[in-house]
Amino acid sequence: MTPIHIPVLSKQVIEALGLRPGGIYIDCTLGEGGHTLRILESTDLPIKLLGLDTDSHAVEAAKKNLSGYLNQVTLLNKSYTNLLNESKKIGFNQVQGIIFDLGLSSMQLQGTNRGFSFRTDSPLDMRFNDSQQLTAWHIVNLCTEMELREILKELGEEPYAKRIARSIVKSRPVETTVQLARIIVQAAGRRKGRVHPATRSFQAIRMKVNDELNNIEKGLDQASNMLSKGGRLVVISYHSLEDRIVKRFILNASKDCICDPRVLECSCEHKAYLKNVYKKVVKPNKREIELNPRSRSARLRAAERIET
Ligand SMILES: C[S@@+](CC[C@H](N)C(=O)[O-])C[C@H]1O[C@@H](n2cnc3c(N)ncnc32)[C@H](O)[C@@H]1O
Repeated sequence: MTPIHIPVLSKQVIEALGLRPGGIYIDCTLGEGGHTLRILESTDLPIKLLGLDTDSHAVEAAKKNLSGYLNQVTLLNKSYTNLLNESKKIGFNQVQGIIFDLGLSSMQLQGTNRGFSFRTDSPLDMRFNDSQQLTAWHIVNLCTEMELREILKELGEEPYAKRIARSIVKSRPVETTVQLARIIVQAAGRRKGRVHPATRSFQAIRMKVNDELNNIEKGLDQASNMLSKGGRLVVISYHSLEDRIVKRFILNASKDCICDPRVLECSCEHKAYLKNVYKKVVKPNKREIELNPRSRSARLRAAERIET
């Protein structure tokens, strides 16, 4: 089986992880197993890997793609928001590296009935985990105009959030992706440039359905507490909202004091436990962007555990 998804910045991920003999690594966003496969192919070292994905279809695909390495990998259909529990259950208490490759995979985007794309008509779904109750349909059809406006503004940074929210509410019930995209185009108008006018709204609704930003914080927190001294946390994000959370998280974890700067005396007793591996965020080069346009917006940050 050939994966649809090309892993982004995979050489840089492997470099940032700094694989060690006997090391245990966790891929928190397994997808079709792209990064996990590249990591395993890159080394003869006896490493072990745990892969998690909240999407059961992704885990099934990863099982096939990683069939040559099943003695080294454990694959679980679980959310990284349960990272600590799930890892402990299989005896991985401390690990040497953890990767997060945020957002959605090409397999999900191209899935014909998953509702992530406005290019194919499908019911409004957008769930990573299809046993979850909340779908895009609920957001689009049941939120108030004000709630919709906030979602589009905050999670999509959509400048026409107000107009789009009003149009959606007037057009209800909205049943399919193409119907929703048409409403958005009519409300916001066609804009110059390559980005389709519905892109930001679809991103915002998807992020709301899957509670993505809150999950990132939960995942990073648990991950950084599972690293052994010298262990590496590697995160790839695809837009500024995600990257801001990752950047702030590493910044805070790298400080000896997180008190309000206006306070004269420190009372937080916070101790730095991570340090940035790179001075600057790592971006794909021109060649990778040409080969895999999806990598265009990727930003990689890596941090190392300095205290346990
Ligand atoms: C960009 S894709 C990962 C692609 C993968 N690195 C590869 O190269 O094949 C992101 C994946 O994260 C998964 N995901 C999103 N939220 C998750 C969560 N809370 N827990 C586990 N996986 C999650 C999605 O289902 C998706 O498969």
